[in-house]
Amino acid sequence: MNTLAIIGAQWGDEGKGKITDLLGQKADYVVRFQGGNNAGHTIIVGDSKIVLHQIPSGILHENCTSIIAHGVVFEPEAFLTELNMVKEKIPVTADRLKISLNATVITSYHKLLDAHREGKSKVRIGTTGKGIGPAYEDKVARRAIKVKDLFNLDLLTTKLNHALEEKAYLFEHVYQTEYPSAEEEAKRLYAFGQEIFQYVTDTFSLIDRATAEGKKVLFEGAQGVLLDIDYGSYPYVTSSSTGAAGIYTGAGVTNGIVNEKLGIVKAYTTRVGEGPMPTEIAEEIGDRIQKIGNEFGATTGRRRRCGWLDLPILKYSVKASSMTSIALTKLDVLSGLEELKVCYAYEIDGKEYDCAYPGLDLSQAKPLYKNLKPFTDDFKKDGSYAPELDEYIKLIEENLGIPVGIIAYGPERSQIHLRKNYFH
Ligand code: GDP
Ligand code: IMO
Ligand code: MG
Repeated sequence: MNTLAIIGAQWGDEGKGKITDLLGQKADYVVRFQGGNNAGHTIIVGDSKIVLHQIPSGILHENCTSIIAHGVVFEPEAFLTELNMVKEKIPVTADRLKISLNATVITSYHKLLDAHREGKSKVRIGTTGKGIGPAYEDKVARRAIKVKDLFNLDLLTTKLNHALEEKAYLFEHVYQTEYPSAEEEAKRLYAFGQEIFQYVTDTFSLIDRATAEGKKVLFEGAQGVLLDIDYGSYPYVTSSSTGAAGIYTGAGVTNGIVNEKLGIVKAYTTRVGEGPMPTEIAEEIGDRIQKIGNEFGATTGRRRRCGWLDLPILKYSVKASSMTSIALTKLDVLSGLEELKVCYAYEIDGKEYDCAYPGLDLSQAKPLYKNLKPFTDDFKKDGSYAPELDEYIKLIEENLGIPVGIIAYGPERSQIHLRKNYFH
């Protein structure tokens, strides 16, 4: 097995960074194929913590090349800050980090638009404010700046002037805000271009060669299926294809095959930002889970909303991304709680649904819960758990029809049990 996808199965923050870092030890390449610095992927090794936003979570492994592919929206200034942070921990040479020449650039205009829309709109999405949506809009509108445009100041100025045609009107008349001229923005981006030049390449051909040669390639998704622009809880979603389908457009896999699609599932549910979340807990136990799980956004620091495990959304995610196994994370957070519930179906207009199909209005879904026996486990024994925890794991496997291949029970890299072989 040479290709593996890591896909978030909920609303993001499931522990993708930790699992990518773990399995990245065996990979030749780790590829980010969508999203941008809205992502926050945490890796903890010993006392050292690192949060990656754009750089793939394979970066700590010397024999692995990290690729930012063309489906990503790329913020050069934030990238350089992040790279310096990584370089304080380990040396990063240009042969270990590659950026697609066709990735879409996030400009100052995109961040301004994101901030003003969120401030003024009647339908607040609760975005991360990083300019992700506006940057993808420009890509689809065919007026985006691509990474390869950063190396020619005249061309960059011309393109930014074109991109500004409509935005200038919005900044002046709708949002009444200051904004940099195309010339100023071009100079700023050009300077960053000079610094990133050494990392920029045709990543399509790199991945093409790697897969043809049977190299081990891991595709690291950002966000989660329920935040996908097409599959997610629209309009409260991000602007990219966060599921497995995004790999094909965002990175390109020439043989058309991704062998294993590993869905990352937090043992309960969290969500940051606006939008429906059927199992959100209003009672005190929700706050307890939030505190024990330290549920604060890795990118914005916002408090994550917490709820019980939602099997209908997981069933849907498994189908929507053809997941073949799952990694169940943060089980330690539930250990020792006096209550344990799992949502097995929703009731909407008097009917019961066990899968969160797109036709359902999640804001109207009343969660139907099974009360389970709470468990307490110290996770010291690999493969053998308290009987109540065993039941929890089996219930999930039976409902989703795929195995739990990984159990994570703490933030540290080593706090994991592998129940299945990946990249064998
Ligand atoms: P990602 O966006 O999917 O990579 O996830 P985040 O890094 O945003 O959020 C996951 C958080 O949970 C991070 O703080 C991780 O360090 C932490 N984490 C990951 N796995 C576990 C686990 O099994 N137990 C605990 N307690 N924390 C975990
Ligand atoms: P990782 O990769 C959790 C959410 C935002 C907001 C919506 C749209 O760390 O799991 P955007 O800035 O993308 O336009 O915001 O998506 N969101 C995330 N939530 N984890 C993430 O990434 C997220 N990236 C975006 O909170 O609700
Ligand atoms: Mg995150």
